[in-house]
Amino acid sequence: CGIVGYVSRTCSPRPLQIVMEGLSRMEYRGYDSAGVALAHEGAPGDPDGPATGGLTVVRAVGKLANLRSALEQADMPPSRSAIGHTRWATHGQPTVANAHPHVSRDGRLALVHNGIIENADALRAELREAGIVPVSDTDTEVVVHLLDLAFHDAGTPSWEGDLPGLGGEDLRTGRALVSAMLAVTPRLQGTYTLLALSEEVPGLLVAARRSSPLVVGVGEGENFLGSDALAFAEHTTDAVEVGQDQVVAVTSEGVVVLDRGGRPVEPRHFSADFAHDRADKEGWPTFMEKEIHEQPAAIAATLAGRCDADGRLALDEVRIPEAILRGADKVVVVACGTAFYAGLVARYAIEHWCRIPVEVELASEFRYRDPVVTEKTLVVAISQSGETMDTIMAIRHAREQGAKVVAIVNTPGSTISRESDAVLLTHAGPEIAVASTKAFTAQITATYILGLYLAQIRGNKFSDEIQDYMDKLALVPDKVQRILDRAESVRQVARTMTGATSVIYLGRHVGYPVALEGALKLKELCYIHAEGFAAGELKHGPIALIDEGQPVIVVVPTPRRPELHRKVLSNIQEVRTRGARTIVVAEEGDSSVDAYSEVVFRIPPAPTLYLPLLDVVPLQLFACELAGAMGHDVDQPRNLAKSVTVE
Ligand code: G6P
Repeated sequence: CGIVGYVSRTCSPRPLQIVMEGLSRMEYRGYDSAGVALAHEGAPGDPDGPATGGLTVVRAVGKLANLRSALEQADMPPSRSAIGHTRWATHGQPTVANAHPHVSRDGRLALVHNGIIENADALRAELREAGIVPVSDTDTEVVVHLLDLAFHDAGTPSWEGDLPGLGGEDLRTGRALVSAMLAVTPRLQGTYTLLALSEEVPGLLVAARRSSPLVVGVGEGENFLGSDALAFAEHTTDAVEVGQDQVVAVTSEGVVVLDRGGRPVEPRHFSADFAHDRADKEGWPTFMEKEIHEQPAAIAATLAGRCDADGRLALDEVRIPEAILRGADKVVVVACGTAFYAGLVARYAIEHWCRIPVEVELASEFRYRDPVVTEKTLVVAISQSGETMDTIMAIRHAREQGAKVVAIVNTPGSTISRESDAVLLTHAGPEIAVASTKAFTAQITATYILGLYLAQIRGNKFSDEIQDYMDKLALVPDKVQRILDRAESVRQVARTMTGATSVIYLGRHVGYPVALEGALKLKELCYIHAEGFAAGELKHGPIALIDEGQPVIVVVPTPRRPELHRKVLSNIQEVRTRGARTIVVAEEGDSSVDAYSEVVFRIPPAPTLYLPLLDVVPLQLFACELAGAMGHDVDQPRNLAKSVTVE
């Protein structure tokens, strides 16, 4: 799930330190095993260096702390270069044997991999015929053997370019490793970021990518590789993109980017300073609590600077010609997980404001159902990380059909932002906890901005109306703060729920996606079975689940929408009559709910369409506190990864 690489001019403990630091910066993404490989050379001129060259590999199951103690016991030698990996199991259980790096049979070549090699079985069979029996269940091991065979193929290297800083035998060996990568990658089906290191040429890292992220960090006499710029952001903000199907060779003196035919490609630099401020917990017990409390700032930052002096929305990042936006006949939102629920909220707002049909689709389903997408479809991809493979594949499919894609992402420079026609950034700042909170409310905010922008361009709204909507949105951060100021009352209730085995969430209209998100938070963090339902759907089935003591959390609409409010009140009564314990999220001053609820979480009044930004906050606090009370790891729930870079 996370890859780091480092190469320097001299032999020292630094490569291991940098790689471990990089892995720990990506730790929040979730993983179940980890490992490193160091390449060192016998350095006659360097009294501190090891006497003989070699490759040292150490791997461990579980958290990085386990890897750290294994490293202490192993007494690691100083090295020129290192690679590291955190693994989220796909092929094969999380065991040491399956952990990366994987090594060639002679133990001299190491490889780490993110992604899935779909033709691994066929390639494994081929290796078996050549007498090579894999020792792990992974698809990655197949690649290291193929790479090794190609590397040691007796012929002269097919690639003959320069590798900065390498000469003589090192250059020859380095060229052979680059040639091997160029020869093997076209044989792989699926997705990959690959990073290889050989003790035969310890001053070189060779990497490749297809549909899985990889960036190079450029330093002075040292260079970095990472599946995320966060891996090296402390050391350099000068980053180089590695494009689809490209191979990159990195030495301490330079970076060589090659296309799949081995032809050099001009490196494209970008600034990775956004990744620099990976905040620490700043006194909060968990990142999640900190991030929940950062929501007023995240919403405000996402709103900042969007209007010009005349009150017109001016989205500098959305450079899709206005004629195309005006001519769009449908909006399709694609996203996963929490971002998908942000999309469901967006549908209410965009359809209401723009009178344009909006479909919201799970990104993982989108391309498989042969969706109706044309040049008149505007696709909106929502993603915190900008690296979710399901979403990447959905936007590629949409663009192939001629659609334009606007990405709402939180990570500048991410794959989704690079592959879309336009980007609307959420400015939530780095989100570290696996379960998304501030990114969710920032995403919803961004979809409101996009909806109003479309309404402006398409002539559905006048600028004074837009200004009025934006002004009301600007009041939301203070309202969220008001809810946070009362967080303790939610926490108290949560602590009484540690024995719950099932919780039902109900909502209507925009409260429905909030119910879904509330239930998702509970599943993710507390491992309690939870389900969100449209309140009106209750009578069509889910009501059969209700019996004595069943907790039901109900998101109640504002009483200023009596047609919605009245119905949800009836729904609460229906479950109460059947013995449910009801916890209710309702507007301040709405006393009509009191008689039907055990507990009421209060939220300040706001326009109906904006209520999800408020309603979700007590539900986030509730799940977070309950998870803590149950003794779970709030920031890194079991089995989950922050950024899922496989389909
Ligand atoms: C993972 C995370 C979720 C997240 C989803 C989409 O499943 O665990 O919290 O909502 O990915 O991630 P994205 O980065 O695309 O928003």
